[in-house]
Amino acid sequence: MAGSYFLTTAIDYVNSAPHLGHAYEKVLADFFARHEKSIDRDVLFLTGVDEHGQKVQQSALAKGVEPQTFADEMSAHFQRLHHGLGVASSHFVRTTAETHKAIVRDWLQRLHDKGEIFFQEHEGFYSVRQEQFVTEKDKVDGAWPEIFGEVIETKEPNYYFRLEPYRQRLLKHIEENPEWIVPAFRRKELLGALAEPLADLCISRPKSRLAWGIPLPFDENYVTYVWFDALVNYFSFASVKGQLVWPPDLQIIGKDILIPAHGVYWPIMLFALELELPRHLLVHGFWTNSGAKISKSNAKSLIDPVPYVEKFGPDALRYFVLREMVLGQDADFSDERFETRYNGDLGKKLGNLVQRTISMVHSYRAGVVPNYDGFHLTEVDAALRSDVVAEQYKRAVAEFAPHLALQAIWEFVAQANLYVEETAPFKLAKDPTQAKRLDVILGLLVETLRRLSVLIQAALPFTAEKIRVQLQLSPGPVRLDESLFGTSLRGHAIGKPEPLFPRLEEKPPAS
Ligand code: MSP
Repeated sequence: MAGSYFLTTAIDYVNSAPHLGHAYEKVLADFFARHEKSIDRDVLFLTGVDEHGQKVQQSALAKGVEPQTFADEMSAHFQRLHHGLGVASSHFVRTTAETHKAIVRDWLQRLHDKGEIFFQEHEGFYSVRQEQFVTEKDKVDGAWPEIFGEVIETKEPNYYFRLEPYRQRLLKHIEENPEWIVPAFRRKELLGALAEPLADLCISRPKSRLAWGIPLPFDENYVTYVWFDALVNYFSFASVKGQLVWPPDLQIIGKDILIPAHGVYWPIMLFALELELPRHLLVHGFWTNSGAKISKSNAKSLIDPVPYVEKFGPDALRYFVLREMVLGQDADFSDERFETRYNGDLGKKLGNLVQRTISMVHSYRAGVVPNYDGFHLTEVDAALRSDVVAEQYKRAVAEFAPHLALQAIWEFVAQANLYVEETAPFKLAKDPTQAKRLDVILGLLVETLRRLSVLIQAALPFTAEKIRVQLQLSPGPVRLDESLFGTSLRGHAIGKPEPLFPRLEEKPPAS
């Protein structure tokens, strides 16, 4: 094994069903997890759901069920989506797990014992939607911004966690670790947010107001603020066979939860407990629908990923989101874009290459891969065997740019399709004097398919497997750095072609 790799995603609130934004983040993480596995790393991949807090309590109340019953149902929904999308996490995190609750209480107790948490009466404004106290400074043009929802005036004693004593240390960490936050422009935003002294963080909620949470170990009249509870999940489930794995190599989050949750609270909690910080925080942008953010609070913009998975298959959605979004920026979803990628890149380009190659091997060589050892190779043959695509792919993944990784692979698919056009095996098949040339072309094309099945396996695991089945190869996943043209497939009998991305004439599901 080439070492271990530990990555996490944000855990989703279960107050409503998952949408495209949630699906994207999980697919993105799964892509990196599968890639790391293919370079022989032992991967710990955590994802899951955030089940406590006011929003969940309110949603449960509205449905007239207990919060736990509500959370169980919704968690199952998220889990089914992950399964359908091939998101193969090591563990599905739930914050209602007893092990997690015990760790949250342990952290709180330790911070309390160290004097980092203190009790204080506070009078001020409270945002019901954000579940936090807000101050005059948060007003925009004299009014509370929309994101705060209803803001009420309240007076209550609570427990606070001191952030300010760690601000300089955090600034230093950001300065010294320029790659801690990816992409770089997010790092600047965080530096900006740390320019001013940090207010203490209220980490408790009185049970009288919010019962659905983890009771504080030192005061049972309070439950833990949902963010303090949720962030701890990364630690609670960070173990393999009972052994702690720390720190995470990669934590994937959306841009709305960098400041302050993952960029301020989280590193300071880790500092205070003398734990190492994650190596990278990867911050992605938002999916929008005709320009509007896809969010559960905007029913009109909502995109449910499930109908797309059912109609087009999981890899179509995986390919679309990974290919269309430039990691870090926002991207817009539309049925037209989806259809274009599906019919074009997947159907016409990849699907067609696989289908025509396999069909030709059946038509001209009775389904057996020809032997071309020692035969003359032309420049175009050599170009098809080049390692350039694998190099480009690996570089793009290392730079957290899946869209470029897929672009490189699809340029290779285009090259292979062009190779078929230019070498015209369907013409050579009619001329017996060209038998050796045809052997080279068909042999190389089958090897190209095998190579593609390896290159696409992190992004399109189901399709990779289908190609391997059609070629009658041993099941994947396969090591990426094993020489992709190493073993010749000569004499190997392949299976029948099956369309990978059947053309669908009807329109995609209405959004
Ligand atoms: N529960 C918190 C996270 C706690 S992590 C310790 C939360 N949940 S969420 O359900 O609101 O969001 C979960 C993730 O989905 C976040 O990373 C968020 O940025 C992401 N997305 C939510 N809407 C999104 C889009 N429209 N597009 C892409 N991702 C977005 O925040």
